[in-house]
Amino acid sequence: MKQYRFPEGFLWGGATAANQIEGGFYEGNKGLNIADVLPGGKERLSILQSPGFNFEIDREKYSYPNHEAIDFYHRFKEDIALFAEMGFKVFRMSIAWTRIFPNGNELEANEEGLVFYDRVFDELHKYGIEPVVTISHYEMPLNLVKQYGGWRNREVVTFFERYVNALFNRYKNKVKYWMTFNEINSGLIMPIMGLGFAIQKEEDKYQPTYQAFHHQFVASSIAVKACHDIIPDAKIGCMILYAPVYSYDSNPKNVMYALQEERFFNYFCADVQVRGEYPAFIKRFFKEHNIEIQMQDGDLDLIKEGTVDYIGFSYYMSRTEKKDKSDLENSQGNLIGGVKNPFLKASDWGWEIDPEGLRISLNQLYDRYQVPLFVVENGLGAYDKVEEDGSIADDYRINYLREHIKAMSESIEDGVDLMGYTSWGCIDLVSASSGEFSKRYGFIYVDKQDDGSGTLERKKKMSFFWYKDVIASNGEKL
Ligand code: BG6
Repeated sequence: MKQYRFPEGFLWGGATAANQIEGGFYEGNKGLNIADVLPGGKERLSILQSPGFNFEIDREKYSYPNHEAIDFYHRFKEDIALFAEMGFKVFRMSIAWTRIFPNGNELEANEEGLVFYDRVFDELHKYGIEPVVTISHYEMPLNLVKQYGGWRNREVVTFFERYVNALFNRYKNKVKYWMTFNEINSGLIMPIMGLGFAIQKEEDKYQPTYQAFHHQFVASSIAVKACHDIIPDAKIGCMILYAPVYSYDSNPKNVMYALQEERFFNYFCADVQVRGEYPAFIKRFFKEHNIEIQMQDGDLDLIKEGTVDYIGFSYYMSRTEKKDKSDLENSQGNLIGGVKNPFLKASDWGWEIDPEGLRISLNQLYDRYQVPLFVVENGLGAYDKVEEDGSIADDYRINYLREHIKAMSESIEDGVDLMGYTSWGCIDLVSASSGEFSKRYGFIYVDKQDDGSGTLERKKKMSFFWYKDVIASNGEKL
């Protein structure tokens, strides 16, 4: 039987985001953010994908699962102890911008918020776990959304600069791995979460979307430079949503179509953040869609100077494309679109499962950029059943993760420089796209249900013990 191997020091762990675990949405002087106004349930996805959302809370109509989430805000010690028991080397988490700057535009950081993350980092270090921190994970302060129009507005760059400086100065001795914007390219499909604004009903989406990206690129470069100045031994990466695009068949027209989708969705943002310049292919697209990016003097130099040290990316699925899709079935749940791939099975939410696609992704990314890669999200959202004796036999999750871990090991043999793996939702949390609790990813079950009921008790699933062995054997015992 083949032995799968990983390099010494491989960063095994799990990943989360503040808004999906913390709760405590009004505690510690925290301000409201985008996730706080997103309702739970099926409505959420259609809100995220349609124009015109008003960013108001409407308790008569909706529930708001992120408000309490899984209460990590009060239970982080218990949760971190469980991560330590699994042997985590790293824990990916995000900082809620609104705990540090509740409205986004204050001049001084909120001490209570800073203290909260001090306590979390100290607790992680107690067990030798390094935090991997996403600076902005779908948590923009609501005030910046409502008063400024989110990342449409150049002024937000200044607020972000203040925020990152506060983080780097405060945590310079506690955090060595950072990432700027979570799944930055997801702004193309869900601008509300990624870019902090809703497309208006009569508006063409491209101009504001690409202008907002430009502001994020400038902000990202400012963050990279500040991080390198303030914490010289830290590494700071970008974070993209990567889903390799396959042509449905060998018709060259479809192959070209797939290539274009690959470039526009998977590579555009990474090209700017890793190579430090706008890619050649985007110029034609801008021209054909009458997109004119407003830039300030020095922006392009800044982007050139502020390139990232590594690429963090999420991998859940691949995407199969055909230019004319009218005769084919859609790939149901795949948020990024495409047609159904006849070779793949899908999760209960219709996300196509494709471990080989992870090997393809790693090879494609490394061929293109030659910088270290970090799989910072990957996992199976599934319904779990608690048996009468309290056990949870999530062998389907183990199978999913095992195949993806094998694919990573293969890619390392292929020559890819892979830093680590933090599987998504290492503890059950609120789903970003549907606001459900029942879409569970964790090694740790949390007793919290879609209707808001539940004791919040934590339970170890079968995958908990399996992942513990995987880490202890550095990936050999799969
Ligand atoms: C990524 C996000 O898109 O996928 C996470 O960075 C998210 O925030 C994860 O939770 C899984 O998606 P979902 O919709 O199943 O929660």
